[in-house]
Amino acid sequence: MPQYDDQELTAEVIRSFAATPNPRLKFVLTELVKSLHGFVRNTDLSFEEWNYAIDFLTRTGQTSTSTRQEFILLSDVLGVSMLVDAVNHREREGATQTTVLGPFYVGEHKPMPHGTDISAGISGEPMFVRSRVTNLEGKPLANVEVDVWHADDDGFYDSQKPSYETLGPSLRARFITDSDGRFSFRTILPCSYPIPTDGPVGELIEATKRHPMRPAHVHFLVNAQGYEPLITHVFIEGDAYLDSDAVFGVKDDLISKIEHHDEPVMPDGKPASGPWHVMSYEFQMKPGTGAVPQPLMSAAE
Ligand code: BEZ
Ligand code: FE
Repeated sequence: MPQYDDQELTAEVIRSFAATPNPRLKFVLTELVKSLHGFVRNTDLSFEEWNYAIDFLTRTGQTSTSTRQEFILLSDVLGVSMLVDAVNHREREGATQTTVLGPFYVGEHKPMPHGTDISAGISGEPMFVRSRVTNLEGKPLANVEVDVWHADDDGFYDSQKPSYETLGPSLRARFITDSDGRFSFRTILPCSYPIPTDGPVGELIEATKRHPMRPAHVHFLVNAQGYEPLITHVFIEGDAYLDSDAVFGVKDDLISKIEHHDEPVMPDGKPASGPWHVMSYEFQMKPGTGAVPQPLMSAAE
């Protein structure tokens, strides 16, 4: 009957993967077991702590739905999402910086005409977004899909509200760049907001006395054929939380200086009832295959 001390146990579990046909899967599992076993040894993890961790992860799964991803949120607040981002984007070669996708991307949408107001019926100060997509040499890229999404004035995404099922998307859209690589839309000036704290991740935030705030931003996902997909945000300069984002997602180059205006007529010809704003930001795309990497395991295996 085999019997292992704690070091032999690690080696034996790693040996159990010896016949794994997929070399990447074998490598990843081996490193995972080394790190997990090392964590248990280094912390002298108690049964109570181990049980707590199992319960915490179970509840993290149970809190997730088709429109809420508590596991992504957990990865975000532990800095794992930004670490995966960092190791995959070590060399940007002048391309726009990347950051977390976040849990509120809900997939693609019907393309909207340039200039569309994606904030219809939502209160807030108007903001006009003017943007362009180019390659690393500044050549405009036409027919590029750009998904945009952001939170409302109370810090909620449409998909967090019960009305999403009936009313459909708001503060969220897809645009296709024109022949000069440009796209534009109207929305409201985003504000800083707390990540959801009513689930297990909120317990972690509370227990560690961190704040849950993210600095104001608009999300962009830019998909151009022959280029790496670009997942990023544009942050609003001056936000109080730029230095302490709850998910560690801020990069200097992604902070945009917003123009503030008080002229009586806005760029879309409508009368202004108060201040309005303009965000201008250009995205530089890095060449790539756009190919989707193979999964480590298929669900059926
Ligand atoms: C967001 O920006 O939508 C987000 C990102 C990470 C965690 C929570 C929210
Ligand atoms: Fe966000």
